[in-house]
Amino acid sequence: MQVTHLSLTNFRNYGRLELELPPQALLLYGDNAQGKTNLLEALYYLATTKSAHADNDQQLINWEAEEAADPTIIVSRLVAHVQTGRGTHQIEMRLIKEMKQGGYTFRREALVDRRKVRLMDLLGQLRVVLFVPSDVEMIQASPAQRRRYLDITLCQMDGVYCRTLSAYNKVLEQRNATLRAMAEGRQNGEVLSIFTERLVGLGSQIFRRRAQFMADLAREAQRIHYESLTAGRETIRLGYLPRLQANPLARGDDDAADEFLADAEWLETQTELAAVAERFTAALSANRERDLASGATTIGPHRDDWRF
Ligand SMILES: Nc1ncnc2c1ncn2[C@@H]1O[C@H](COP(=O)(O)OP(=O)(O)OP(=O)(O)O)[C@@H](O)[C@H]1O
Ligand SMILES: [Mg+2]
Repeated sequence: MQVTHLSLTNFRNYGRLELELPPQALLLYGDNAQGKTNLLEALYYLATTKSAHADNDQQLINWEAEEAADPTIIVSRLVAHVQTGRGTHQIEMRLIKEMKQGGYTFRREALVDRRKVRLMDLLGQLRVVLFVPSDVEMIQASPAQRRRYLDITLCQMDGVYCRTLSAYNKVLEQRNATLRAMAEGRQNGEVLSIFTERLVGLGSQIFRRRAQFMADLAREAQRIHYESLTAGRETIRLGYLPRLQANPLARGDDDAADEFLADAEWLETQTELAAVAERFTAALSANRERDLASGATTIGPHRDDWRF
């Protein structure tokens, strides 16, 4: 997979850029604030539909385009030609800021070969690994940040995973809303069972896929770290910590981690998804009172973590 051409319009400090990219490794060097990081950000954005640096997408639109006289519509455009063994595709992201009835609206569009697609369907067209100095903080970062890294990587590799995750997050919101409604006596347990069943179906797939992926990643990381980086002096271990247990936090932190790791090993070997679903169902029902009291689903892949 190779990007042969990158074209940017009104993206960050690039008013306009047309760049041919050679097949070999490429080293960008230059003075500060020339746009090296912005260029990497553009490629990352095209691959993931997310910025690794900006808090919101509006920051990505070129300021000068915004300052131009009376802009009723500003379009920031990123286009890459991606060559693979199966041919060349053009992928595109548009950030559109438009003046409507006195206020601005903002929307994003994704295109593959000039056809509009869902943002999710852009994922996987271009696969990237971004490594920046601040990534070393991942070890100390919050579980949410580690999960984000895991999901961005897995979504690029596996479209089914990505759609399952998106569906899971929607069902999770519905289940949580139901829990709160039940606490106020506005909803009954039947609705909760429906959402719980859906949550289990989708969540079980996520658990298992993450377990398999983390095992692969751990194996590769261990090999590279041991053989190439430390000449056999040190080993690194990565471990997936799935939140598939009803109440492991009652025990000590280290014991809990051991149990999570054991769950991860178990998940990795499950050929029958039904076995995973059964465990997840049992854990959710054991946690029912706790979920009702907190108005939130207290276990599940949305609480997962992994560690070095
Ligand atoms: N939305 C935007 N519109 C216009 N310019 C922007 C926008 N966002 C950032 N910039 C500018 O882009 C420049 C930074 O570019 P970038 O971070 O890519 O530089 P760099 O080449 O990586 O520099 P360094 O060597 O310091 O890492 C800054 O001058 C910043 O003001
Ligand atoms: Mg930089």
